[in-house]
Amino acid sequence: MLSRGGHLDAEAGQGADPLRQRLAVDSHRPQYHFLSKAHWLNDPNGLIFWKGQYHLFYQYSSTVFPQGPKCWGHARSQDMVHWEHLPMALVPTPGGPDKDGCWSGSAFINDRVPTVVYTGVFPQVQCLATGDDDMTTWRKFSGNPVVGSPPAGRTVTGFRDPSIWREGDSWLVTVGSGFQNQGGAVLLYASKDLAHWDYLHPLFTAPPFERGDSPRSSPSDSVETGDMWECPDFFPLGGKHVLLVSTQGRVHYFLGTYSDRKFQAETHGLIDGSALHYASKSFEDDRGRRILLGWVREARSKAAQNSAGWSGAISLPRILSIDADGALQMDPLPEFARLHGRHHRIGNAEVSGFLPAPHIQGSSLEIQLTMELGDAKEGGVSVRRSPDAVEETTISYEAATQNVVLVTGRSSLSPEAGGGTYRGALKLKPGESLRLTVFVDGSVVEVFAHGRTCLTGRIYPTRGDSLGVGVFAREGRARVKSLDAYEMKAISSDRLTT
Ligand code: FRU
Repeated sequence: MLSRGGHLDAEAGQGADPLRQRLAVDSHRPQYHFLSKAHWLNDPNGLIFWKGQYHLFYQYSSTVFPQGPKCWGHARSQDMVHWEHLPMALVPTPGGPDKDGCWSGSAFINDRVPTVVYTGVFPQVQCLATGDDDMTTWRKFSGNPVVGSPPAGRTVTGFRDPSIWREGDSWLVTVGSGFQNQGGAVLLYASKDLAHWDYLHPLFTAPPFERGDSPRSSPSDSVETGDMWECPDFFPLGGKHVLLVSTQGRVHYFLGTYSDRKFQAETHGLIDGSALHYASKSFEDDRGRRILLGWVREARSKAAQNSAGWSGAISLPRILSIDADGALQMDPLPEFARLHGRHHRIGNAEVSGFLPAPHIQGSSLEIQLTMELGDAKEGGVSVRRSPDAVEETTISYEAATQNVVLVTGRSSLSPEAGGGTYRGALKLKPGESLRLTVFVDGSVVEVFAHGRTCLTGRIYPTRGDSLGVGVFAREGRARVKSLDAYEMKAISSDRLTT
């Protein structure tokens, strides 16, 4: 088991450190997703574009399991593709309201001063800190906590993860919360000076969601039951308002309207069909694009995470928009095309059964598939496939269920790797071909289907030759109109992200 902090100095990461050397050759470490240099990473926090740079903060612990108190890791980027690690932005202050952890929150600019609002624990309270102009040093507000307890007279299941915006001459802040046996709630506060906060009312509440087939691992945990909502995020988009909340292992979105400081939901969906993308947050960049990032969780045992010395990745950024049908659209950030290396193409091929693409190989790929399903019951693409197919990961469309399906149950021979079958609904219009974009990056797979459904998986192949790609059709004939595969260039030479 990795000792506290391993050997890698998360701030410097220099020298002939044994953990660093191990991570540099760890084939499960993605090559173009953002990672912490080592150890534990969870939620993205405080995403912001400021003075020509994107800043990403994230929940960090210097141990994997058991986790230590959470800090705010920090990195910056000019393109959201390549990152530079910076010193920890927030660490717990002994004796302070965040003595046991600096939990999730948001960044904003107050009168030209970079500022963050976050949750100190325990108990859960809301705190502020201000940064210098390049956001590298942070000072906590002397009046912390700015909100020291939940609204008077209400017993809540949790009280954390503030997110903030400006409205007229006020700041408005949402806090993730909920009520036992009733469901989740986003509590709304207003402040004129950031130091004094008035509780207004719940911006939105809802009973627990239908869980489908997802297991409930600890029935008394209010996040698991849906009585506690984590990481609310609220923003205007294409004439509507969007509310994101994380609960029951999923990120739920609501599209609706906002008036009188209340949100009315009209439609509801999932940001991702798997429980491996969690705690998403969004921000608006300098071009007015609404960009969402999430935490890509691990799907392997705690022991395997500990012996690897690292856990968690940040998802590829997704651009959010509202499509012509009024639905939420999610597209990968086009900047990632800058990483395209060698290109391979299959055009106009009929497929029945499995058709290998022997010239396409790799663990760092972007694949764009356009397929006519024809009379096939299912058709799609297989990646990280060993020559004898004992390990493979498939992404396909199932005509009968109208589902995009990501199957990771055979991705790895290791008993430490947890696989699954993840589904997302996708109604193809009459005559519409299936369009899948699949990002394969070490142990991370992210699937975008028509921008309407996304699926995230974790895979831990054991065999060095589990690198193959092919297309398949089951019970019928499908036609590949085109398959474009790009070998993706690494964003760093040592899998340490910078
Ligand atoms: C979500 C979450 C947040 C909390 C943070 C702690 O994954 O539980 O609610 O602030 O992680 O790291």
